[in-house]
Amino acid sequence: RQVPAAPPSPLGFESVPVSTADTVVVPPGYTAQVIAPWGDPVGLAGAMPAFRPDAGNTADEQAVQMGMHHDGMHYFALDGSDRGLLVMNHEYVDDGLLHPDGTANWSAEKVRKGQAAHGVSVIEVARDGDRWNVVRPSRYARRISTLTPVAVSGPAAGHPLMRTAADPSGRRVLGTLNNCASGITPWGTYLTGEENFILYFNGPDRPDAHAARWGVTRRGVGMRWAEHDERFDAVRHPNEPNRFGWIVEIDPMDPTSTPVKRTALGRAAHEGATVAVTRDGRAVVYSGEDAQFEYVYKFVSRDRIAPGGAAANRTLLDHGTLYAARFDADGRGRWLPLVAGEGPLTPQAGFADQGEVVVKTRQASDLLGATKMDRPEWIAVDASTGEVYCSLTNNSKRGAPGQPGVDAANPRARNVWGQVIRWKEDGDFDGTTFTWSHFVLAGAPEHGGTVRGDLFASPDGLWIDPRGVLWIQTDNSSSTGTYGNNMMLAADPATGEVRRFLTGPRQCEVTGVTSTPDLRTLFVNIQHPGESPVAARNEPAWPSLHSRWPDGGRPRSATVVVRRHDGGVVGT
Ligand code: FEO
Ligand code: CA
Ligand code: CA
Ligand code: CA
Repeated sequence: RQVPAAPPSPLGFESVPVSTADTVVVPPGYTAQVIAPWGDPVGLAGAMPAFRPDAGNTADEQAVQMGMHHDGMHYFALDGSDRGLLVMNHEYVDDGLLHPDGTANWSAEKVRKGQAAHGVSVIEVARDGDRWNVVRPSRYARRISTLTPVAVSGPAAGHPLMRTAADPSGRRVLGTLNNCASGITPWGTYLTGEENFILYFNGPDRPDAHAARWGVTRRGVGMRWAEHDERFDAVRHPNEPNRFGWIVEIDPMDPTSTPVKRTALGRAAHEGATVAVTRDGRAVVYSGEDAQFEYVYKFVSRDRIAPGGAAANRTLLDHGTLYAARFDADGRGRWLPLVAGEGPLTPQAGFADQGEVVVKTRQASDLLGATKMDRPEWIAVDASTGEVYCSLTNNSKRGAPGQPGVDAANPRARNVWGQVIRWKEDGDFDGTTFTWSHFVLAGAPEHGGTVRGDLFASPDGLWIDPRGVLWIQTDNSSSTGTYGNNMMLAADPATGEVRRFLTGPRQCEVTGVTSTPDLRTLFVNIQHPGESPVAARNEPAWPSLHSRWPDGGRPRSATVVVRRHDGGVVGT
């Protein structure tokens, strides 16, 4: 009887060591080129102000320049693997770096510049031999920010909980915020999550139960927007926070299109959203909520995806069923429907209709007994195997006094290392039960880690490339010591082998990755090099910070283009 030979490893590159250098390191035989840093013009004809190295660009100039703190990203092909659109998120701003004098002389102009530096950029990029350039001007170039009108659709559109003094219709929100992970739909649109929006609001000293469950606090995280833009004062405008926390759908091919908040997918501190397709052609949207002890969700569309692209699927994400995940100790799991009138989600319990269920997705999931997770971040779907991967980045409060203890899916107390969980639905992606396991527990063996290969901690970004390789990006905030600067690794889903592919500059996070269809060019985002500690975030502290990446001055988030010297397929 023959023993079948082990399949060859799909990881064909030499691993890079842990790094504390202020640069991007890639394996031997690869190059890394920086494009599209914060502040470069996106390429709107007639509006291409150059970046000022002293951060002296105005709010109006920032509104047509790359935003700050690049995050999730996708390449939409215009001409195969030679020319396309890069659509990317700008998660947040560091006011210490955004203005020449940091937060001193705080003003309406500074608030507006910060709002203009959030959101999403659409840029056109083209290959010239081994190099990639941003095409300027481009008819596709676009900035969507916290100042861009966005439509609301689905069960919360027009709901009383969504109405404000500035928008009595409850159907038109100014902007999007804290855009973190990216997703795409089979009909050619881009999905972006609104993550830590709640931190931008000034709240009352004594919030009501709803505001408290969502973490509204006095002065939020100290962004000071409410001082000059009163809609961020939730004392005066308590419904304004309800208008954030959604998945936003954007059609990058139509620069005049209005982005849409898809409320049927639920409200959460959404990291992002990832789409799978059932065999009969319905869309299944997985999403996680990156907050300690929050949940994993999925939405199953009622209708099938229609041929004809974005125009033919304009309401597809508005009708369907939303579920929260319960991970049971026996390795099985169940999707719990978040449907008004079903089970405990009654009017008496505070859920008058589906609009109220989706605005209060957290409270509904609490009642249903969904599993409180260790900060669900990115989700990746392997369509060839049906496996779904979710990074649970860490949870330092797991098992702390007064906090939930360990459970099967979140098995380590004071979990500062994180894990990647994976599951497979029973039947198709619309299945209501599943089988789950841990793909890897991150961290060193002495901390219970199960990494086979190069060590890492705090997995965050996840992506499955066209070859089926699972890429893992890290957001290990300590960023020093055992694990060095944040990094990107490649993993073999079949064996669990993990190999370090790229290390970032100092105090950065590596987040967001996409490729050309031929997998010969990889785009990787480097976020917040030189990030100041939270306590110092509002100080003009940059000269004393370590990182001066990428150009020796004020540190700037940017996109890194990774290619092989021989032009071959990346990772092989
Ligand atoms: Fe924006 Fe959860 O990372
Ligand atoms: Ca993240
Ligand atoms: Ca993170
Ligand atoms: Ca971060």
